[in-house]
Amino acid sequence: MDMRVRSRAPTKITLFGEHAVVYGFPAIVMAVPIYIDVEMETHDSFALSSGPLTMEEFGIRVKGGKVELDERSSEQILRVFSYVMEALKEIGLEGAQVRISSPLPMGAGMGTSAAVTVATLLGGLALIGRNVSEEELANMAWEVEKKVQGVASPMDTSASAIGGVLKIYKRGEWIRERINVKRLPLVVGIFEKAKNTGEIVRDVRKRMERVTELREVMELIGKITLRAQKALEDEDLALLGELMNVNNALLEALGVVDKRVANAVHSALEAGALGAKVSGAGLGGAVIALVERDKAEEVMTAFKLSGARKYFFIESPSRGAFLLNT
Ligand code: PMV
Repeated sequence: MDMRVRSRAPTKITLFGEHAVVYGFPAIVMAVPIYIDVEMETHDSFALSSGPLTMEEFGIRVKGGKVELDERSSEQILRVFSYVMEALKEIGLEGAQVRISSPLPMGAGMGTSAAVTVATLLGGLALIGRNVSEEELANMAWEVEKKVQGVASPMDTSASAIGGVLKIYKRGEWIRERINVKRLPLVVGIFEKAKNTGEIVRDVRKRMERVTELREVMELIGKITLRAQKALEDEDLALLGELMNVNNALLEALGVVDKRVANAVHSALEAGALGAKVSGAGLGGAVIALVERDKAEEVMTAFKLSGARKYFFIESPSRGAFLLNT
């Protein structure tokens, strides 16, 4: 009998500690209620399709081991395809029809690839009648990401599979700890990205080799992140906002805050945000601003006027990935 499942996985923002986390320092990530949805059906061959993932519709078919792309396909689509294929391989599912919907462009700096991976794994596991814990799902998704990307921190896959707010750091092994946060009002803006994450991480590494003092900037970002954990636990939004501004200044020292992002951050602050920063690799991508609800509209307008392609208001973290009733 053919079976059909629907799964939903949250995307994420990095609240504190991006780039420093590459060197083992702590980062804080939050799963956000902007979701990737996957619909899957058992099938004897494999087919993948999607709604407007980037700006357009696309389709991919595999027939007799050959990949057929429609003309609107692009590198981004192939990326999604690789994650889905690798996820299906991970659980030993040979044929499936997979349909993906995303309200975000891929590669926006919000962990869309991780969410696609997590949702596909969760759906696929349901199809084969296998139950796994959130932690197992997070680990499986991380394995898939590493296979596709070569290297990846477990930040995005953990946030999407487990949900909530997590502190992630490396002590030999990667460690994740849950931080209890009920409410965190934020505006998120998505900007065109000048370079991809891998390139930006490599640029930062080169800069650090020339200016060795930047190692201390990384350390300081780690300290700010620990202080932010405390502010989150104390629900001290005013302090949290200030720490976001400091974190952003340190990211600027690393060279990942360009004119557009700096503009967005300053405009958000002028519009009444408590703090604002890059979220993710920088040079575009996601920018976040901490706001009280009555300032959300103005801050969204500030992001829009600074050139954001999309913007959202989020009040609290999302739970981890889950199945929807079909
Ligand atoms: O922009 P994103 O969501 O790909 O985030 C990158 C975060 C970095 O810390 C810069 C890299 C990483 O692997 O943690």
